[in-house]
Amino acid sequence: MPRIALIPGDGVGPEVLGEAARILRVLDQTSSLRLEMDEWPLSADRYLETGIAITDDEFSRLEGEYQAILLGALGDPRVPGNEHARDILLGLRFRLDLYVNYRPCRVLLPAHSPLRAPEGGKMDLHIFRENTEGIYAGMGGTLRAGTRDEVAIEEDVNTWKGVDRIVRAAFRFAEIRGLTRITLVDKANAMTHAGGLWRRVFTEVAEAYPDLETEAMYVDAMAMDLIRRPDHHRVVVTSNLFGDILSDLAAALMGGIGLAPSANLHPGRHALFEPVHGSAPDIAGEGVANPMGAIFCVSLLLDHLGEEKLARHLEATIQDALREGVVTPDLGGTSDTVGVGRWIADRLAGNLAEDGPHA
Ligand code: NAI
Ligand code: MG
Repeated sequence: MPRIALIPGDGVGPEVLGEAARILRVLDQTSSLRLEMDEWPLSADRYLETGIAITDDEFSRLEGEYQAILLGALGDPRVPGNEHARDILLGLRFRLDLYVNYRPCRVLLPAHSPLRAPEGGKMDLHIFRENTEGIYAGMGGTLRAGTRDEVAIEEDVNTWKGVDRIVRAAFRFAEIRGLTRITLVDKANAMTHAGGLWRRVFTEVAEAYPDLETEAMYVDAMAMDLIRRPDHHRVVVTSNLFGDILSDLAAALMGGIGLAPSANLHPGRHALFEPVHGSAPDIAGEGVANPMGAIFCVSLLLDHLGEEKLARHLEATIQDALREGVVTPDLGGTSDTVGVGRWIADRLAGNLAEDGPHA
């Protein structure tokens, strides 16, 4: 029986994760899937009370005892440096070596997207962001801090091993999903050392996939192109920083950051799912956060568990909610977080009951 660790976190994290957990309970009770769920109170509250963000023992247990982790969001204004969030989230990404950050971006309901035109509605983009190195590796330092002679260096770390494994993961995914085009995004004209490595690896891996159309684009051109012709791109593979930036852009194209899910993966080993958005302190506690990004994460979790049919069922139910206008204020609706979560849970339970226990 798959064991899932739930980390609600801070701000709207517990609100949206509560609705994702509701969906997991429906799946446990209505489908053939049985799940065990444990809640982990890693948060700013605990950090402020005890000074502990996450212990070595907790890392080991999360690593050894669970098939997957589902996380709400971390970040709290009472912890100005956000060090607890860094320790927990970057800690898990690095310690569990979750080298793939996968972010699917589809237009679920064109009316919510700035791409209302028919070709915009066809966006079906899958971003593979390198998740363990690049500019987030923490290499660098500061000299003469606080003076007019200050020097701040942030190194962009790219290893052959790190680039090779994310590029391979993206190609494998394109092949399995039957997607026809894969695009490398870099800044090889200005960042020639990193760009050279990424392009050599991309070309080498591509040789094993003669049927896939390959492209390389500079990140600035890609930012423009994603808006100009979002339906052109399918799989995008890129570095940590460029993936971070492009996936927020793509989330806005989907219809809003409240809809976007992400998976942090070490294929075959570990998986952590989280909505793309943060803890949204400006609306925390009001009960109006959009839970769809978190619920969409459950569908990625189902894919991870090999339950593709249930995953598609859940996605279709989220789309039903959007079509019927059962949405939170960020999408122009009047429903609250719990209202949207309950509606999707009830509709899903109904659909699964109709389909029989082996849906
Ligand atoms: P944010 O994503 O929390 O909020 C940006 C804007 O989007 C806000 O106006 C917010 O109200 C809105 N928003 C976000 N999620 C929403 C939802 N589910 N429904 C409706 N509206 C939503 O990003 P921000 O403000 O830059 O960061 C806030 C805190 O979250 C910071 O402490 C930051 O470090 C942290 N953060 C954590 C992440 C994570 O845990 N993976 C990711 C991004 C930020
Ligand atoms: Mg980001």
